[in-house]
Amino acid sequence: MKMWSGRFQSALNEQADAFQRSLPVDKRLYKHDIMGSIAHATMLGECGIIEPSEAEAICAALSDIFYDIKNGKLRIADAEDIHMFIEEALTDRLGQVGKKLHTGRSRNDQVALDIRLYMRDAVSEIIARIKTLCETLCDIAAQHTETFMPAYTHMQKAQPTTLAHHLTAYCEMLLRDAERFADCRKRINVMPLGSGACTSTSYPINRNRVAQLLDFPRITQNSLDGVSDRDFAVEFAAACSLLMMHLSRCNEEIIYWATDEFGFITLSDAFSTGSSIMPQKKNPDMNELIRGKTGRVYGDLVALLTLMKGLPLAYNKDMQEDKEAIFDCEDTVKQCLEVFTDLLPSLTFHADVMAKGAAGGYTAATDCADYLVKKGMPFRDAHRVVGQLVHYCVESGKSLEELSVEEYQSFSDLFASDILKTVPIDRLVAARSATGGPAKKTVERHLQKLRKATAAL
Ligand code: ARG
Repeated sequence: MKMWSGRFQSALNEQADAFQRSLPVDKRLYKHDIMGSIAHATMLGECGIIEPSEAEAICAALSDIFYDIKNGKLRIADAEDIHMFIEEALTDRLGQVGKKLHTGRSRNDQVALDIRLYMRDAVSEIIARIKTLCETLCDIAAQHTETFMPAYTHMQKAQPTTLAHHLTAYCEMLLRDAERFADCRKRINVMPLGSGACTSTSYPINRNRVAQLLDFPRITQNSLDGVSDRDFAVEFAAACSLLMMHLSRCNEEIIYWATDEFGFITLSDAFSTGSSIMPQKKNPDMNELIRGKTGRVYGDLVALLTLMKGLPLAYNKDMQEDKEAIFDCEDTVKQCLEVFTDLLPSLTFHADVMAKGAAGGYTAATDCADYLVKKGMPFRDAHRVVGQLVHYCVESGKSLEELSVEEYQSFSDLFASDILKTVPIDRLVAARSATGGPAKKTVERHLQKLRKATAAL
C-alpha cells in the first residue's frame, strides 16, 4: 500500500506504477537522504514538534538503516523512490514513532535537499580529480620545456613552440574549469528544507538549525523557489560540458599526434586497443571515447535545460528526470578525468619528430619579417618581402634555415649575417619570452604559478 493511498479507492495501474518509480535511479541518494532526515528529526525534537526521545529514536534507527544499506544487510528495493524506501524502513523498525519523521516536511523540499547535499560532494570530488590531472600535466610539461613542436593555426604550421607551452595551455583551461565548479558549488550549497510542498509550513521549525547541522552557509529565501528550481543542476552540467570540451580537444590532438602521418607520439599498449581484423592496428580508443562521451554530457545539459523551460511553479513530477542527467554528468566526467590522468604519463613523445615539424613549414617567417621591422622596414613591406622569400624557398626546396646570407640579401639589403642566428627554432622560441610565451624561463615561471594555483584547489 502506498503511503499516500488514503484518498484513493483503487490501486495504481501496474504499468503506471512502474513508470513513475524513480528508485532505480535515485537510490544512490540514500546516504544524503538519511543525513537530511537526521538533521530534520533533530530539529523537530529541539523545537518540541516531536518529543526529544522520539527524535533520538528516529536518529538512531536512521543511522542503523544507513549502516545496514552500506554493509549490504538491507537491500534497496520495492519502493516508489529512495525517500519512501527510507521512511518505510524506519516505520518497519520503529512503528508509530517512525511515522512522525515526515512532520513539517514534503518530499518536494526533501528531494531538493538531498540532491543539493549529493551534488555538493560530487563537485568536491570532481575538483579533486581536476587537481590531480593538472599536477600530472605540470609534471609532464616540466620535462618538456625544450621539446620543440609547431604551433598551428588553421591546422597549418604557424610558429614554433614547445610541448610544455602546449600542455600548460590545457592546465589554464582546467583551472578555469575547477573555478567554475567551485563557483557553482556556492549556489548548490543553499539549504531548501522548510519550503514544504510549496509554501513552507506552519510548524514552528528552525530552518537555520537544520542548515547548521548539515553545514550549509545559507538557506533558501522563498519556498516556491526552494522546491522548484534546478538552475544549480544546469550550471553543474554546463561546467561538466566545458570540462569535457577541453578534455575532448586535448584527446583529439593526441589522436592525430599518434597517426603515422604525424608521428609525434606513441601510445602505450596499456591505453590502446587492437583491431579484430587488421593485425597492425593500435587504436586510440580511450582518447576517442573521451571525445565521444563529451556528446552525452552536452546531451545531459540540453536535457536539463529543456526539462525546466516550460515548468510552472512549483514542483512538477517532470523534475524527477533531473537526476539521471546529473548522475550521468558526474559519472562520465569522473571516469574521463581518471582514465585521462592515468593515460597521460604513458605517452611517449618523439622530440626529434616534433622538432623537425617545428622547423619545417617556414615557421620562422614571422621572425624574419620582425627582423626587417627592427631594421627599419614597415611591417607590411616586411611581410611582402618575406612572402617572396618563402616563395623562393618553396621553389628551390629549401628551408629558411638553409638559406645563405647572400640569398637573404637578394630580397632586402637590410638582411645581415645575424639573420642566420635568428631563424633556428631554439632561437625563435627563446625570443618569445613575454608573459604567456613559450621561452623556457617564461614557461618555468608559469609552471610555478600553475603549481601554486593547483595546490590551492
Ligand atoms: N521522486 C521524486 C523526485 O525525484 C520525489 C518528489 C516527489 N514529490 C511528489 N510530490 N511526487 O522528484
